[in-house]
Parts: sequence; C-alpha cells; structure tokens
Amino acid sequence: MPILRSKLTRRDVVLVLLGALVMHFLPALHQQETSPVEIHIDTGRQPPQAAPPQRWLTQTTTLLATTTRVEETTTTVTAHPVVGPTLLPIDYAPELPETSLVAHAPGWTLFKNLYMSGDTLVIVTNTPSDFPEMRLMASTPLAAENTPENIAMREPTQYSMTFLTTEEAKRQWGGDIRNGRRNRVFSVEGNTVLVNEPGQFLRHYYHLVAELFFGVQAFWHGAFTEPSTDADRDETLGPHAAPPPIHRVIFARTNADGWRDGPGFNAYFMRAAFPAADIEVEEDWEDRVIITASGDRAWHFPLVLLTDRSAAHRGAICGSQTQRIAAEAYEGMRARGQLAGVRVGGWWDPVRSAVLRFAGVEPLALATAQPVLATDPRLPMPAKIIVTYISRQSAGNRKLTVESHAGLVAALQDLVRRKGPSWELNVMEAEKMTKDQQLQAVARTTILLGVHGNGLTHLVMMQPTRISTVIEMFYPGGFAHDYQWTARALGIRHYAVWNDTARTEGVGEGKPRVDYPDGFQGNYIPAHGPAIAQLIEDRVERRI
Ligand SMILES: *[C@@H]1O[C@H](CO)[C@@H](O)[C@H](O)[C@H]1NC(C)=O
Repeated sequence: MPILRSKLTRRDVVLVLLGALVMHFLPALHQQETSPVEIHIDTGRQPPQAAPPQRWLTQTTTLLATTTRVEETTTTVTAHPVVGPTLLPIDYAPELPETSLVAHAPGWTLFKNLYMSGDTLVIVTNTPSDFPEMRLMASTPLAAENTPENIAMREPTQYSMTFLTTEEAKRQWGGDIRNGRRNRVFSVEGNTVLVNEPGQFLRHYYHLVAELFFGVQAFWHGAFTEPSTDADRDETLGPHAAPPPIHRVIFARTNADGWRDGPGFNAYFMRAAFPAADIEVEEDWEDRVIITASGDRAWHFPLVLLTDRSAAHRGAICGSQTQRIAAEAYEGMRARGQLAGVRVGGWWDPVRSAVLRFAGVEPLALATAQPVLATDPRLPMPAKIIVTYISRQSAGNRKLTVESHAGLVAALQDLVRRKGPSWELNVMEAEKMTKDQQLQAVARTTILLGVHGNGLTHLVMMQPTRISTVIEMFYPGGFAHDYQWTARALGIRHYAVWNDTARTEGVGEGKPRVDYPDGFQGNYIPAHGPAIAQLIEDRVERRI
C-alpha cells in the first residue's frame, strides 16, 4: 500500500483507520436519516501543494464530522473559479458540482465544472437559461469552407454539447454513495484550455500564436482581472495580478503535427510561453472519448476555457468586422474594463516576456528623461531607434520588385546614416536566421517593416515603446487586417502602405476595405523607398 510507505505519524494512521471504519459503517449510520447527506465542501483557494495522502485524510475527517450531525448540515457547493488544482472530493460528492459560467464571448467560454462523456461536452445545470446560446460556445469541429452546406454542418448538435439537470447527471454517473459506491466521474484536475478546432488554421504561426493564444491570453487574463475604468491602469505594462496558471492545453481536433508550423515557431512558442503545461492532442482526446463512450462515466474539468473558431465567427465582432477570433476575446474583455494595460499590451506582456526570456532577450534599453506626452504618459522612448525590414526577397512569393527592394534598402540606409549612431537598420532575412536570432532582432525593434506575410507575426514579440510601429506593404489595392488588428490590440501604430501612399486607422477615412487583387501574392509588389523612409522619419521625429 503506497500510503504506508510515506512517512505517516501515529496520529495519521489512527485517522486513516478511523476513516476506513467510518466508510464501513457509513451506510448503517445513514439509514434513518430523513434528508440526503449533506457535506459542506469548501472549494476555496487551497494551496495546490497538498499531497494525496493528506487530501484523503482531509476527506475522511470531513465525513467523520458530518456523520455526527447528519440532521442539521446543509449543502453548500461554492462556485468560485478554482485557482490551482481543485481539491473537490468528487468521488463521494452527494451532488455533482453544477457547471457555472465564469466568462463568455462568442467562441470563448470559461467554465467551472464542465463535464465530457463520449465526446459530448455536458453542462450540468438546473437553469440552462444561465448559459449563452450553444452555437456561440461550440461547433462540430470541421474544417471551415465558405459554402452554405459547410456552414450548416458546423452548427453544434446534441452530440457536441448538451445540458443535464443535476438529477439526470446523478442518474447517469452518480454512485450509490450510501452504499460506499463512488461517483463515476473523474476529475481532470487543474486548469485546461480546450481547443475545439481542426488543424486547418493551427498549423500557422500567425493563427496559433497571434490569433488563438492571443485570444486565450486576453480572455484568461481578463476573466481574473477586476473591471476598472482607471486610465492609468490602461497605460501600464504591469505587473498586473497574475491569473491562475494554465496546466494543460488540449488540441482535441488535431494530431501532434496539426498544431505545429513548418518553421517550428508554434512549438517554440508553446514551450517557452507555457513551460509547465501538458499538451494533449486528438489521440489523447479520443482515448478519453472512447473509454467514456458508453455514457455511464464522465470526465470533470474543474476550470476549462473552451475555444471554438466557428463559434467565434458567429459573433458580430469576428464575423462581420475583423475576421479575427481573438477579437471576440479581446474586445469582450476590453469593453468590460477587464484588460489591464490595454493601450500598451500590458495584458499580453507575461506571455511575451516568457518567450523573450527563453530567446535570451534582455529587457529593452529605454531612454529616460524624455518629454512626456499627455496622450501617452507612461511608455518611454527607446534609447535607440531600430528599423527592422523583414525582407521576403528570398522567400517563395509576395516579393517586392527587384528595383523596389533595392530602392527601399537604399532609402533606409540613407535615413539611418543621416540620423547618426542613435539609429540602426536591420535588413532581416528570416530564412537565414535561427528562431532565437529572429526574436532577438524583433524584440529590440522600434519600427517593423515588411510585405504582408507571416514574418509580421513577430510583431507580438516587439517590446513596446512610445513610438512602436508596424509598416505593412501591400500590392496596390490590396488589404488584409491580420496584422493591422493585432498591432492595434497591442497599442502599436500600424500603417498600410501601397507604393508611395500610407494610411493608418484613425487618420483619413479609417480602415481600408479587405481585398486580395491579382498580384497580391505575386513577386512584383511596388514600394517607393523615399516615401517609406519619410514616413518613418515623420513617425519618429514628429510623432505623427
Ligand atoms: C510608385 O510611386 C512612385 C512615386 O510616386 C511613382 O513614380 C511610381 O510610378 C509608383 N509605382 C507604381 C507601380 O504605382
């Protein structure tokens, strides 16, 4: 017996034996009672380090205490978000804990006490009306196509998600507690992110990091952040109150390859940002599905963030304004005042700092004693202005014309030469650099410049300064708002540039229309170097 091998005191042994005795006599003791056994369970913020033998002892002593006053006790299963692993003794709980909603936005739902049996997510509640419409939480996890048939097939069914009353749940999975038979519910302890989307998008650095986990961080941070309208808090990088840790990420609809991108940034990011999180994939989820397929057993997730790409697209912000699933999580939390440091990306800083620390990046040198602008009182200027041009000229597609590239490099070189040693230009060919080198270069960048493409995803790793800027070059007439939205959400200024014409949101007539004209993906994109160099100079010198 493993328990006896651990160091138990004489008192512990007595308690264990007493507990066993109680378990033995429990059925008899309860025979005359009039109301069900009621155990007060405090699921409050217990430290996660409680060792299993102690936990078991706590449980038996609770039962001991309960049996002496069976008549008066009342059930109180408190429903706080659990911080750290739960200590809920679900095996013997007379009532399975009800599911509750901690926070929700379309495609992003943070539950306490969610269940899963045979691949159906189960909400145990006597008041289903407390929950959002199912189609805003879950979908059938098919790859998305823009056809009416596919859109209809992605609507959730009763097999995607369902509601059970507490009585129904007890009938389905409850044990005969009075006769010492435990509930058939198995707690997947700790805090989980459950990703309900196929590999279609997850295989891309942008979609996994700058979309999915950008949204996870906004939502997770926001759900545990007190609402505030304090403008000062909006302008600070942190540190802010830390949310509970993420112990586990389940990519339920894709295999181990399906969430990894070709260059390997997704794996780098996941391990660097969440070094202690377990990652499960489709095969692991299938194991859990198959062994509960008979429906008489269930998994219990004490705290789980369910992310669902199709459900996010059913929300107004993602569906009709941004096409960014993260936008639902971010805008929802921002509207409630639950993102700390919202104007400078403070809520994202813990993730970025963890990744940059892994990459060997030291915090950015910032200039002190800079004049303070009323609009941006807290972020200092960088000690050095670093312009990084991510060149795609050795990539497969979406290149500048040969003359445009040469003209751009010449104009940028001329600019930094004129400005002297407090300016620096890096022309970065990502293909020829290690991941560490790429992140080190981007982390110290003030002005990030590049043709629309995955390389610009690195903008989420820029260390913010007062004038941090992304300049995205498009084929004339083309526009996509992946990087525009992401930069803005971090408080980074974004310019779209078409040859010699620049535009930023809030200046002129707002955001351009999304369009992918012929030539968008081609290798003949024009860029007028002198105009772009002038834009950079104006942004830095005149803080336009
Ligand atoms: C790009 O801008 C320059 C400067 O205004 C202009 O001379 C050139 O014709 C433009 N190129 C294209 C393809 O529009």
